[in-house]
Amino acid sequence: APGSPAVRPPLGWNSWNTFGCDINETKIRAAADAMVSSGMKAAGYEYVVVDDCWQATTRDAAGNLRSDPVRFPSGMKALGDYIHGRGLKFGIYQAPREKTCAQYFNALGGSTGALGHERQDATIFASWGVDFLKYDWCSPWGTLNEQVAGFTLMRDALRATGRPIVYSINSNSAHTNTGPAYDWGPVADMWRTTEDITDRWSTGCTADCFMGVTEILDVQAPLYSRAGPQHFNDPDMLEVGVRGTFTPTENRAHFSMWAIMAAPLIAGNDITTMPADVRTVLTDPDVLAINQDSLGRQAQRVRDYGDTEVWAKTLSDGSGAVALLNRSNNTATVSTTATEIGMPAASGYQLYDVWTNTSRNTASTISATVPPHGVVMYRVRTGSTTPTTTYSLRGTA
Ligand code: DGJ
Repeated sequence: APGSPAVRPPLGWNSWNTFGCDINETKIRAAADAMVSSGMKAAGYEYVVVDDCWQATTRDAAGNLRSDPVRFPSGMKALGDYIHGRGLKFGIYQAPREKTCAQYFNALGGSTGALGHERQDATIFASWGVDFLKYDWCSPWGTLNEQVAGFTLMRDALRATGRPIVYSINSNSAHTNTGPAYDWGPVADMWRTTEDITDRWSTGCTADCFMGVTEILDVQAPLYSRAGPQHFNDPDMLEVGVRGTFTPTENRAHFSMWAIMAAPLIAGNDITTMPADVRTVLTDPDVLAINQDSLGRQAQRVRDYGDTEVWAKTLSDGSGAVALLNRSNNTATVSTTATEIGMPAASGYQLYDVWTNTSRNTASTISATVPPHGVVMYRVRTGSTTPTTTYSLRGTA
């Protein structure tokens, strides 16, 4: 939304995909430490987001939110201070109606949603040093108009605090499926477009269930024109490295596609124990550069061959990014041309493979052999210059 600090897709980590409700301040602090020691912070990751289940089941006598006394005994201000002390930013979770998702659906108990407390909650978040709010529509009802009104209330409450707070919304948790079709750009900085992701390449899900990578791509593809600085489609948090389910090829493919879609890259794995190959994927400078490009464009699916697809976008320096995606279980050759991906006419092009860090020249054809559930991604430039790594930090270190 206008005024948002999220001029580029937010980069961070969130507790939900690995820990669900099983969180506490020790785990969040360890994640903040790991953001630094793993090199994720140096690569550009900023936000450490505590998802659902941090709250006590009741508000205090003054109606203020408070943290669960067993899991977060030091309180959220102290946690925010800890995260800020590591040079990172602090994210938190709340829901717009009576209850959070876990209070509705996970038998957590309690009733501390923001309804009727929007200003009060925004104020206390700001006082705790919150830099990012995930606001998760979770009542099992609600029309689109009610959602727009509820999400707008909190947008205005956050603005009224005067603190820059990234506003991340999910209209979809109660499976109303009204929200994803709406353009939330004036309301929020990023908005969920799909059902919850899970650590599967495909699940076959289309509604009221967990989606895999391929189902999410199909929902997200037509929404490309809505993405830009301060307003990003959010195809949900990353499953890269979560529980070790994905193969290295799948991790690279999932990460490549989220990157080229200008999706917020919110890691969901246990970063305190991640193996080197997962860390290498999450911190790849060339892939992050494509994601963090200042135009904030979401790639378009310029060619759909069925099992294979070509996604592409133009970057701020006039170069292109192209992902050759193989959704199938068999190795496939995927091809496109410089023209099809929107490059200007030229006598030749340089293809820089962002994962192998090698380059080659082509007259026009862009083609690769792509492994099952894999992506080959190129940064494409006119001419045949020497490749360089183009990502630079955003001055937050
Ligand atoms: C639904 C969201 O989609 C998830 O990412 C997570 O925030 C849960 N709610 C928490 O209950």
